[in-house]
Amino acid sequence: MSIREITLESLDAGQFIETQVAAIRETVGGETAINALSGGVDSSVVTMLGHKALGSRLKSYFIENGLMREGEPEQIVGWFEALGVKVDVVDARDKFFAALQGITDPEEKREQGITQVFYKDVFANLVRNSGARVLLQGTNYTDVEETAAGVKRQHNVFEQIGIDPQEAFGYKVLEPILQLRKPAVRAVGRALGLPADITERPPFPGPALAARVIGEVTPERIAVVRRATAIVEDALNGCGAFQYLAVLHEDRVTGLRDGKRDFGAQIEVRCWESTDAVTAAPTELPFATLRSIADRIVTEVPGVVSVTYNIATKPPSCIEAV
Ligand code: XMP
Repeated sequence: MSIREITLESLDAGQFIETQVAAIRETVGGETAINALSGGVDSSVVTMLGHKALGSRLKSYFIENGLMREGEPEQIVGWFEALGVKVDVVDARDKFFAALQGITDPEEKREQGITQVFYKDVFANLVRNSGARVLLQGTNYTDVEETAAGVKRQHNVFEQIGIDPQEAFGYKVLEPILQLRKPAVRAVGRALGLPADITERPPFPGPALAARVIGEVTPERIAVVRRATAIVEDALNGCGAFQYLAVLHEDRVTGLRDGKRDFGAQIEVRCWESTDAVTAAPTELPFATLRSIADRIVTEVPGVVSVTYNIATKPPSCIEAV
């Protein structure tokens, strides 16, 4: 991999911001640029760098793909409004669910269900309608490393695997935080004045809850994993872990509810200790915490009769299940 990593130890956040702001100005020139803000720390940092560099010549969008967590669009738009950045919500739910229909293979899900819809359809339309030539996005060093190593095709990696976005989608992609891993991205976010709600947010994958549904992604199955995710996040917020999540399994298991057989769904809970997502170990959560998460999930999420906790490490596990 030819990209030079800037480690947290060697990072001078102020200098990095200056360099990237200048680079964005130079690449975009007198034109406009767009960026897609998911509200994760990576895209939030890129939004602020772009905003600093271009002001109102940067158009920021939150793509409502139907795969985000409870209340997320409103929350993210509100956070950025408070920072003086206007974010428009683009409703693309039907496009994503149509593309994801019938797909069960994880890599096909990422490629056909997420990447192609984001880049070929939604962003291409936004670029066309806004007159922009450049898309700013928050690909980081770990995304590229895992994709180049063939571990997992991250949805936002192109040039490093031989895809020219200009040729494939008709616009240039600029990636200001390509040299940073997550801890360094957080440090830049703090230096940019982003609130801790954003800089200390656990990572969330680009394919969103689609990365947490094993088997076909439908609005109904997303609703199940979304509710389970809200419960897990509510229980584990502030626990200090690197990332915590819920996964909806494809297999059903026999359960018993109200004295009757209930052939129901299974949710797997994961909670990870990690610094950079390259390796990770399950958090040794108190059993009482796990039990209370399980009680809430089987009570509050319709159709779920079984809850498990992942106790394997990465590798060979991965942080996400898809
Ligand atoms: P894995 O599952 O590979 O995840 O152990 C490593 C880190 O990357 C996030 N992740 C993704 N992020 N697009 C992203 O932007 C993706 O396709 C993707 N898959 C995983 C994951 O949440 C974890 O923090």
